[in-house]
Amino acid sequence: MKNDEKHYCDILVIGSGIAGLSCAISAADLGLDVIIVTKDSSIEESNTFYAQGGIVARGRDDSPELLIDDIMQAGDGISNPDAAKIVAFEGPGMVEDFLIKKVGVSFSRNVDNEFEFAREGSHSRRRILHSMDMTGKAIEEALVAKLPEYKNIRAYSGYTAVDLLTIPHHSKSPLALYKEPQCIGAYVLNNRTERVERIFSSYTILATGGLGRIYLHTTNPTVATGDGFAMADRAGARLINMEYIQFHPTTLFHKDADGFLISEALRGEGAKLKTKDGIPFMDKYSPLGDLAPRDEVSRAMYEEMIKRGDNYVYLDIASYTEINVKKRFPMIYQRCLAHDIDIQKVPIPVVPAAHYSCGGVQVDLWGKTSLKCLYAAGEVAATGLHGANRLASTSLLEGLVWGIRSAKDIAGTFDGNKPYKESEIPPWQFPERIEEVDPALIQQDWVSIKSTMWNYVGIIRTVRRLQRARADIGYLKNRVDDFYRRAHLSPMVISLRNGVRTARIVAEASLKNRVSRGAHFIR
Ligand code: SIN
Repeated sequence: MKNDEKHYCDILVIGSGIAGLSCAISAADLGLDVIIVTKDSSIEESNTFYAQGGIVARGRDDSPELLIDDIMQAGDGISNPDAAKIVAFEGPGMVEDFLIKKVGVSFSRNVDNEFEFAREGSHSRRRILHSMDMTGKAIEEALVAKLPEYKNIRAYSGYTAVDLLTIPHHSKSPLALYKEPQCIGAYVLNNRTERVERIFSSYTILATGGLGRIYLHTTNPTVATGDGFAMADRAGARLINMEYIQFHPTTLFHKDADGFLISEALRGEGAKLKTKDGIPFMDKYSPLGDLAPRDEVSRAMYEEMIKRGDNYVYLDIASYTEINVKKRFPMIYQRCLAHDIDIQKVPIPVVPAAHYSCGGVQVDLWGKTSLKCLYAAGEVAATGLHGANRLASTSLLEGLVWGIRSAKDIAGTFDGNKPYKESEIPPWQFPERIEEVDPALIQQDWVSIKSTMWNYVGIIRTVRRLQRARADIGYLKNRVDDFYRRAHLSPMVISLRNGVRTARIVAEASLKNRVSRGAHFIR
């Protein structure tokens, strides 16, 4: 099989959520030539698309200082204050200038045609812009609609990144060893032709989103298999804070709901968590009650469920709010109704699920990773903003801010020079004898990864559980790596290889850190 298709660009953006697309558009505005690749056949498919709650902006009686305090508080003392300052001072301006004025995102307004600000857990002010309960969809669709205006953006959907191209690792020249390690693009699988193509880029941005799908229960879409974390790790970039996996307290408890998120904005509008027999319990656990940080709420729910032998608790909005629930939360209303739950009348059965990785590929305040010419933005990146636990609705904002800042930084330093000779970088080599993939084996490997992560590296961890997880995931990883070398390459195989590696990274980071903090709770 031939694998000699090549592409060239100034910036390769891997991933097409808010971070990747804001970076691509900003870089194109600054005159750079951009390629975007995304593994799904639809460019819109991303974590961003499913975000419900909203994006932090500046509320009416708000200030950057108040937002910084809330971020630091939620992050349990280890949020990066410099990152918090950037988000609080620059972020709201970018929402207005980039998302609203340039891209044309339409956020919900009140009867006086002013923006309607929502509230979520641990926010001291109403400051969250939203588009009913489909904020991510509104943002993603507007960003995607903007792309055809740019001749210098090529968007390739149905292309799965296999590995970052790095020198000296991928160079045939023995002298490359003396060069500083550097990212020069990626090998990508064209899902349709099943060939691996080379994309050579002066700079590469990882914007691949999250890792929720390494857990049994998650709010994340199927694409969130931890690809960017694994690729960066293989390429030698530094990852930090990987033990801080945020569990969202409220996803719909129903066998067919697949982790459907019930936005925290419901609690922002007064909804309360109750036991199955109708007793509100959050005031017992936190002075902030139902609006406590997510880690505290998830643990409180877990405690109540264990104590009572229940497998869910209720979230009751019907008894506590004055608002028109159906109008404010139309998607949640419809999805629950499809399961015979009328949220205007009855409480919603909910359970926590893996939601967000607070850690990731370490980046500086401009999105630079520890590997030369590799940047990262969005959930895959760790700016330090989220510390040990992310403040609600800051993730879209962080993706936006670091997407734009990365583009600006690159445009400011780009000199057009190529640090490699293309002839030194070989085309992808398929194994001589290719083994066909048995989907039943892949599925079983995923079941093992997800249930190990859920049971041993979940909301409440112990050293023994984590040791078991490290051993079991380590064994699986060796087996998957071995099989990968012979396997017929497909998106399914690539995702499994990345998922198991990312799971091991999370398990190891969790075992190494014996201090309970934020989303990492170890008994
Ligand atoms: C939600 O709507 O509850 C999710 C928002 C977020 O994760 O920031």
